Amino acid sequence: MSDQRSPEARAAGPADPQDLHRQAATLEQDAAAAVAAAADKKALEAVRVRFLGKKGTLTGLLKQMGRVPAAERRVIGGRINTLKQQLQETIEARRGAIDRARLRRAMADEVVDVTLPGRRRPGGSLHPLTHAFRRIEDIFGAAGYEVVSGPEIEDDHHNFEALNIPAHHPARAMHDTLYLDNGLLLRTHTSPVQIRVMAERSPPIRIICPGRVYRKDELDASHSPMFHQVEGLVVDEGVAFADLKGTVVDFVRRFFERDLGVRFRPSYFPFTEPSAEVDVQCVHCGGAGCGACGRTGWTEVMGCGMVHRNVLEMAGVDAERNTGFAFGFGVDRFATLFFGIDNMRHLFDNDLRFLGQFA
Ligand code: DAH
Repeated sequence: MSDQRSPEARAAGPADPQDLHRQAATLEQDAAAAVAAAADKKALEAVRVRFLGKKGTLTGLLKQMGRVPAAERRVIGGRINTLKQQLQETIEARRGAIDRARLRRAMADEVVDVTLPGRRRPGGSLHPLTHAFRRIEDIFGAAGYEVVSGPEIEDDHHNFEALNIPAHHPARAMHDTLYLDNGLLLRTHTSPVQIRVMAERSPPIRIICPGRVYRKDELDASHSPMFHQVEGLVVDEGVAFADLKGTVVDFVRRFFERDLGVRFRPSYFPFTEPSAEVDVQCVHCGGAGCGACGRTGWTEVMGCGMVHRNVLEMAGVDAERNTGFAFGFGVDRFATLFFGIDNMRHLFDNDLRFLGQFA
């Protein structure tokens, strides 16, 4: 009968079965503890390799079988094989437990707490100027006025000539005009829209023209190189200064939502005759006099007058049959007065902490 034991086994001589039993017992304890301590699959795999791998402890025990005397081999061999099987099963069971624990954790983490308060999406708000424009357009719209707009890049004719402001007229000095290289200019007021409308349509005309205007001004508490105006124009048969007064007084009171006093001061504009400037009782002190109105109790808010005959004629309106009135005012001023904004710069700084107040 040939000797089938490995060369090492043959070389090492017979193994002591009692010793193998002791080794098996230790291994059983060690393995059980190691499997139980494996916290994740990686650790568990390391345990498997340590005991059942090619160079593992249990594999090492099996290798010694060849050196056990044949009579003892069945008993100890059976014990180690059972141990191997049990260990494989415990490792499998532990693997399942690790999987289930991970799933439980994931489900707990992803739980949706329906009682948590929702996240607010910050809403936008309208710019105070937009509020002012809308109020103005609503008031005049209700009175039958049409809203018309014109170009911000204008020519000398519409911005000055046709408004009875010829070259070298002193009124030009008051408009610090921004000129473009091509001889055109940025309109210094919304009055040129009057000219465009009169040239295109025939009376009755009843319009307001809101829009941006430009002047060579530095930005400070009451000036800006770009600001906003609304122009008004009514041309029809029999339009009188009394109509202008009624319109302006009614508008101002509706806009400020108060029965403020309104006064007309004689003034001069090249495109109106007679002309007036309109003062409103100070919205802060109601006319008593305060810092905001320079102790006068009044605030100047617009210019107006009867459309100059020259202007009507230059625009092609039949001045024998028609008369008209016009007015123009700064929307930035109306907005700051209405909302109690102390500095016009706020309108242009785009600070959301400021703008957010005007829902
Ligand atoms: N265009 C003038 C300005 O910007 C304002 C103005 C005054 C407009 C009197 C008018 C008016 O239509 O009649 O200074």
